[in-house]
Amino acid sequence: MPEMENNVLEVILKRRSCRKYAGEAIQEEKMKRILEAGLLAPTSMNKKPCEFYVITDKAVLQKLSKAKKMGAGMLSVCSAAVAVLADSGKSDVWIEDCACALSYMSLTATAEGVGNCWCQIRNRSTLMGKDAEGNVRKALGVTNEKMRLAGILALGMPASEAKPHTEDEVDWKKVHKI
Ligand SMILES: Cc1cc2nc3c(=O)[nH]c(=O)nc-3n(C[C@H](O)[C@H](O)[C@H](O)COP(=O)(O)O)c2cc1C
Repeated sequence: MPEMENNVLEVILKRRSCRKYAGEAIQEEKMKRILEAGLLAPTSMNKKPCEFYVITDKAVLQKLSKAKKMGAGMLSVCSAAVAVLADSGKSDVWIEDCACALSYMSLTATAEGVGNCWCQIRNRSTLMGKDAEGNVRKALGVTNEKMRLAGILALGMPASEAKPHTEDEVDWKKVHKI
């Protein structure tokens, strides 16, 4: 068991946001494991309100990259993206549930050697000052207003890899023991 825990920490250290991708397709098996991680992520009261939209259509990815004012450019160059939506009527903590799924997928992608980057959508605005969520919902064809969106995970084989995090970055001052 301790060996397994160390492996998780190794992946956590290795994970860096990747915004430049080589353009090659992500192997189906890798993609399957990434999605499996999202589907297996814990949810409050086990309500499982999340739905996963896998986007590989270049025209849709292009639209998504312009869904908010800035910070979504990687969606125009990634190979695939997973938008995590949740039924806000099903859970009052759908944001946390989505964030958990996004994190699990991000770490699994890292473990699989797949570059990835979280693209925040909730609480972000469009160039025109409107809600970015609306743009994404439209691009994905989601009409149910109860389906809310936390973020999108951009995925692709990395064009280059940033240096992993190191133990030196760990700020133990943020830990308060009572
Ligand atoms: C909740 C959340 C939202 C983020 N939103 C964006 C985003 O919209 N665009 C982007 O390029 N990166 C986004 N990031 C990535 C962060 O900028 C990145 O994780 C941070 O700078 C640390 O760098 P690292 O991921 O390489 O460790 C987001 C990360 C998190 C956790």
